[in-house]
Amino acid sequence: MERVYIQDMSKHVNQQVRVKGWLFNKRGSGKIHFLIVRDGTGFMQAVASLADVGEETFELLKGVTQESSLEVEGLVRKDERAPGGYELLVSRAAVFQFAGEYPISLKEHGVDFLMQYRHLWLRTPRQHAVMRVRAEVIRACREFLDNNGFLLIDAPVLTPSACEGTTTLFETDYFGDKAYLTQSGQLYMEAAAMAFGKVYCFGPVFRAEKSKTRRHLMEFWMVEPEMAFVELDESLCIQEEMVSYVVSQVLKNRKPELKTLERDVSPLEKVLPPFPRITYSDALEILKKHGVELAWGDDFGGGDETILANEFDRPVFVTRYPTRSKAFYMKPDPANPEVVLCADLLAPEGYGEVIGGGQRIDDPKLIRRRLEEHKLPDEAYRWYVDLRDYGSVPHSGFGLGIERLVAWICGLDHVRETSPFPRMLYRIYP
Ligand code: 4AD
Ligand code: MG
Repeated sequence: MERVYIQDMSKHVNQQVRVKGWLFNKRGSGKIHFLIVRDGTGFMQAVASLADVGEETFELLKGVTQESSLEVEGLVRKDERAPGGYELLVSRAAVFQFAGEYPISLKEHGVDFLMQYRHLWLRTPRQHAVMRVRAEVIRACREFLDNNGFLLIDAPVLTPSACEGTTTLFETDYFGDKAYLTQSGQLYMEAAAMAFGKVYCFGPVFRAEKSKTRRHLMEFWMVEPEMAFVELDESLCIQEEMVSYVVSQVLKNRKPELKTLERDVSPLEKVLPPFPRITYSDALEILKKHGVELAWGDDFGGGDETILANEFDRPVFVTRYPTRSKAFYMKPDPANPEVVLCADLLAPEGYGEVIGGGQRIDDPKLIRRRLEEHKLPDEAYRWYVDLRDYGSVPHSGFGLGIERLVAWICGLDHVRETSPFPRMLYRIYP
């Protein structure tokens, strides 16, 4: 008898099949058991009647506990009322292992409790939906870049240098030398862009940020495109095309998951280019109108980003932040060197910054001066300066944080649920 995955059940109506999986839930009476079986691809009702399966199997199923592993065989029937639209009329069943008393019941638990059991929490429909949206987001990002002439180049995880400031580095010993877990693949992508033109990396990055907000993780995944001969404005066009593409792919391919998450999709349907662009100074004005007085040079907090985003019905670019508040590699605006040619993309509905990026310094003298000003060691950045000495060109890039993008698309109130095993402040278990 053929083993069939629940997601493929529609192709097996009126056939005998075998399903291997776990017991998600069960109810029944003296003569019939209704088992909800899950196999990783879906959830399906299996109906076992005493008359069909015989006394022995019926007793076995009576004792089967939540999350026991099992296989069931029987006839597939189309049934509009069944969850998923199909049900299995069981003729035979076997249990691989009877699960012990399961810590996660189907009632509500607090998030702290669930995080302690993250390895089991992942088995529930809501978490399935989030992980499937995450996979779709990653697939769509990569598809967009692959189809638009970007070459995938992997960046190293162990590095001798900092990209995003020296205060958030995870340090490790590298045979007697100091090394760090990467904060961003950007610097290596700049080297790769000078070799291949348009490139991107996709991988985990690490920030030892003592922030306990709903937008911060210690470890997250970033897509980082980098482009030679591309200036800030062109980079923004590519970003809005990419974000719109990703959102449209999720809307198209992950409808049932968005429904499980009870996501109102109408704000997502508005995500189409062009996205509005405002400068940092414009943003200060908007905040002022809302009673938030920031001095020129101050950074925006999460609440400020929400106020700004609420002014628009789609993601908004905030460009040209003060030079002194930004990373060493950012190119000053030739029209006003007090600001840099950078942009953050703020997501709607209070999800904050999902992309950070900009144009990079291409002048060898200026990059040397900046490294000095930021007290970054010559030795570790020599190769980076080489990129300006040997055929320097204007170039730009950006980093898109996968977890924040997924949190926004799914409508989650915290990024932690977007990661299968999130690393948070004071949590590295499981
Ligand atoms: O703005 P960031 O720090 O930019 C960079 O790292 C650049 N080097 C990227 C580049 O230009 N290639 O980070 C980029 C994005 C943010 O917009 C946000 O989406 C995400 O990474 N991010 C985080 N996500 C989760 N937890 C954190 N602690 C994050 N920090 C940044
Ligand atoms: Mg940023």
